[in-house]
Amino acid sequence: MDIIQYINENAILLDNHLEQRLIFPEAPTRLMEALRYGVIGGGKKIRASLCLATGEAYGIKREDLLSLAGGIEMIHSFSLVHDDLPEMDNDDYRRGKYSLHKAFGGAMGILAGDALLVEGFRFFLSDSQFCKMVNNTKLIRILKVLLDALSVEGMVGGQVLDIDLEGTDADEDQIMDIYRMKTARFIQAPILCGAIVGSANKKELNDLERFGLLTGQCFQIKDDLLDVTQPSGVLGKTAGKDIEQKKATLVGIYGMNETQKIMESLFREAEAVLKQTSRSFSLLREIAHFIITRHH
Ligand code: IPE
Ligand code: IPE
Ligand code: MG
Ligand code: MG
Ligand code: MG
Repeated sequence: MDIIQYINENAILLDNHLEQRLIFPEAPTRLMEALRYGVIGGGKKIRASLCLATGEAYGIKREDLLSLAGGIEMIHSFSLVHDDLPEMDNDDYRRGKYSLHKAFGGAMGILAGDALLVEGFRFFLSDSQFCKMVNNTKLIRILKVLLDALSVEGMVGGQVLDIDLEGTDADEDQIMDIYRMKTARFIQAPILCGAIVGSANKKELNDLERFGLLTGQCFQIKDDLLDVTQPSGVLGKTAGKDIEQKKATLVGIYGMNETQKIMESLFREAEAVLKQTSRSFSLLREIAHFIITRHH
């Protein structure tokens, strides 16, 4: 199957699943509206696809991973909602519509973000069929992978560095640290989650860990390239943000051509890691290739 078709199909499956399950009659109506606005009907849902594709390599059916993949997308959406806040990147647009704080107000931007983070975990923990399928040991490993990726040494720490290094002459190593922490670890995490459900062995987990990190770095490099090459209408978010905010990026220090080369070489490394595994991860390879060639 064409990989774009696969990713789009997963996004539709995910949206339907979220649509059906994100109903909490006792929660404030406005909070639920905001929470649903933040995750349903937008975004590539690429982290979900990474989780589902890894599971598929182990024979796990997509339907059995929807609550895990849905939870992961909710958690990712939390990071975007907070990333867009005036105190952070101050972006009024996301996924082709007003960013959440712009549509629902600043307080809701903070609180619906909090809710997406918490409910993201509850989304799969409250699915008894899923919990039965994975058993408690695997569940704790999944929780640890996700929490580590979000930690002060992961996404939250990375977002702090991203802001602290604005306007500085950060070097390549510092920039790659930001990329790894703020983005790559939460691209790696869904892959590892899928592998844990599939009972991957130690060697496979190590390989997927390496592949995930490299692919995640490619993901952020591509995001930075798109920021300077695509118009807002295509991106669905404000273009040219990184220059405006003096973000420390590879594009900023090396320019577009050199940055593109660095990304391609990281992709080739990621591809090579997968090639030397005994199992076939062809979908993962295709998704990584999509990541470096996408237009938004
Ligand atoms: C954007 O993520 C934020 C980064 C980590 C660069 P995505 O490009 O996956 O955003 P959506 O979910 O498709 O909107
Ligand atoms: C965001 O990076 C990384 C996150 C952890 C959310 P960016 O700030 O470059 O993401 P966009 O461009 O706003 O989507
Ligand atoms: Mg940011
Ligand atoms: Mg941003
Ligand atoms: Mg960006």
